[in-house]
Amino acid sequence: MRDLIVAGNWKMNGNRQFIDEMMSGLNKAIFSESVKVVVCPPSVYLLDVSQKAKTVKVGAQNMYFEDGGAFTGELSPSMLIDVGCSYVVVGHSERREIFAEEDVLVAKKVSAAVRHCLTPILCVGESLEHRNSGQFFDVIARQVKIGLSLLNAENFADVVVAYEPIWAIGTGQTASPAQAQEVHELIRKVITELAGENVSERISILYGGSVNAASAQELFSQPDIDGGLVGGASLKIDEFIAICSAAA
Ligand code: G3H
Repeated sequence: MRDLIVAGNWKMNGNRQFIDEMMSGLNKAIFSESVKVVVCPPSVYLLDVSQKAKTVKVGAQNMYFEDGGAFTGELSPSMLIDVGCSYVVVGHSERREIFAEEDVLVAKKVSAAVRHCLTPILCVGESLEHRNSGQFFDVIARQVKIGLSLLNAENFADVVVAYEPIWAIGTGQTASPAQAQEVHELIRKVITELAGENVSERISILYGGSVNAASAQELFSQPDIDGGLVGGASLKIDEFIAICSAAA
């Protein structure tokens, strides 16, 4: 049985007042025990969110792979654990595109997170250009294979994969349930080839890209979709709670 997970990625949004309001709303909400709810605030608020969180788990939006040292502006896995994180988003397309993170760096982060018992949410997804040219399967398979390449196969199940087509992020244009399911099935097949079905059947694969309360239920009911990585809609408390309920 795979974990059902809904993670809210707040990206570079919010302030202390927003966090007070969100955490108070989340702490009052009743979530199904079958769904793990995660929130990923900007890093300066991680400790505050961790201290306020009663039922939800906390994740960081990024980290560096080294344990410490002269890496100005970066955060280590042990620092994230120290402030209460249990998840970390790795290789988000905004990191890949705006901050030029490549597959090999992403793989180092995945491996460091697993080594420190943080669950990495490994993001993969194609551009509109790759979708339209039909190359998207190759792009996603490469991102998955390299992203997991520094792990032993038995550790693959310690990773959560998030499929986020770049053309669906923040655009309001959600992938159709069939489009998303097709890619999730491919991702599971790639992992089966690398590590066998026993492992691939245990990996949660989340969908991200303009998920909202209206689209969540049908997306999450697809056989290979195990929840969502939610951006914009996770900033609205009622909508985020509705999305979490749709995963149950
Ligand atoms: O990490 C979340 C994704 O980038 C999705 O963002 O729900 O605003 O499209 P979005």
